[in-house]
Amino acid sequence: QHKQESTEKSRKTDDPVADSSPKLGADKHQDEATSKKKLCVKAAKEHSIPKDLNKVLENKVMETVLDLSYVKLSVVEMMHSGDANSGGIVSQSVSSHSDLIPGVYEGGLKIWECTFDLIDYFSEAELEFTNKTVLDLGCGAGLLGIVALRGKADRVHFQDYNSTVIDEITLPNVVANCINDSRRMGSGKDRKASKPPSKRPRKVEGSPDMLNRCRFFSGEWSQVSQLLLSSNKPFSKYDIILTSETIYNPDYYSALHDTLAQLLDKNGCVYLASKVHYFGVGGGTYLFEKFIEEKNVFRTSRVKTIDQGLQRCIMEIAFKDAC
Ligand SMILES: C[S@@+](CC[C@H](N)C(=O)[O-])C[C@H]1O[C@@H](n2cnc3c(N)ncnc32)[C@H](O)[C@@H]1O
Repeated sequence: QHKQESTEKSRKTDDPVADSSPKLGADKHQDEATSKKKLCVKAAKEHSIPKDLNKVLENKVMETVLDLSYVKLSVVEMMHSGDANSGGIVSQSVSSHSDLIPGVYEGGLKIWECTFDLIDYFSEAELEFTNKTVLDLGCGAGLLGIVALRGKADRVHFQDYNSTVIDEITLPNVVANCINDSRRMGSGKDRKASKPPSKRPRKVEGSPDMLNRCRFFSGEWSQVSQLLLSSNKPFSKYDIILTSETIYNPDYYSALHDTLAQLLDKNGCVYLASKVHYFGVGGGTYLFEKFIEEKNVFRTSRVKTIDQGLQRCIMEIAFKDAC
């Protein structure tokens, strides 16, 4: 039976959704190790889309939320349980029971609850993605970018700190949703058979058009920004940058701010969803707003506040001199 989780309740209690304050990895208390890690900046890399999409979906079990398919995390964890000695982030996050290990694993395996706040906001605000260039920054599962793709965005780029997240979570999610959508829009015969998507991905042939509008990157923000700006592939700045649960750590604010400043189109807009405060890590909306104000490059406005559980909000960020 398929999990069709569209209710508030089922979203909050669902297994992969990190809906409370993040559990911080042990490294937080290892001051020396942490400061060394801060110096070691994760290099940027573009992940090409494999020709054989069946390989991307191999060994994956899919779940559904809000009509979006996503990889079942416990199966990925099981497949990587043997990597414990190789320092893989999946086994490290499982064995340390951590949602975040600063500088090592930045939380992209799970779907964080502000992702759903932002998806709700897209429909409430009737946000238009048609023909827009979109970046899902700190994408994790990539659901925000997938919604933008469905909204007919011209191009969608996905970025996560960890390359394992891109390979094991983001890419499979994007591929699975692109396939489902192209099947839905396919022949009349396919349309009539309105079965829910299968948990076991079916055989894929060719590459759906939606997928050709995507690119995938891993690495630390300033490195990814440099890679994009210095690449010889054509690059145009983003009309829309979507980012959820990415301001938990004040140590990263400078890199995040400069990345937004370098990659956003002069009339573009950032939609940021966040908890107001991240207990145990220290960041949150007030601190980030203050940081932005001091830099004097962007203006911010809170467009929605969510008061259930830990207070959360949606912020819009645009250049001060944008029209
Ligand atoms: C808590 S996760 C949120 C994932 C996803 N946006 C969601 O809402 O489910 C934070 C995301 O930001 C990215 N991230 C955090 N700090 C980063 C940094 N310094 N450089 C690059 N990416 C970073 C992580 O890779 C991860 O994808």
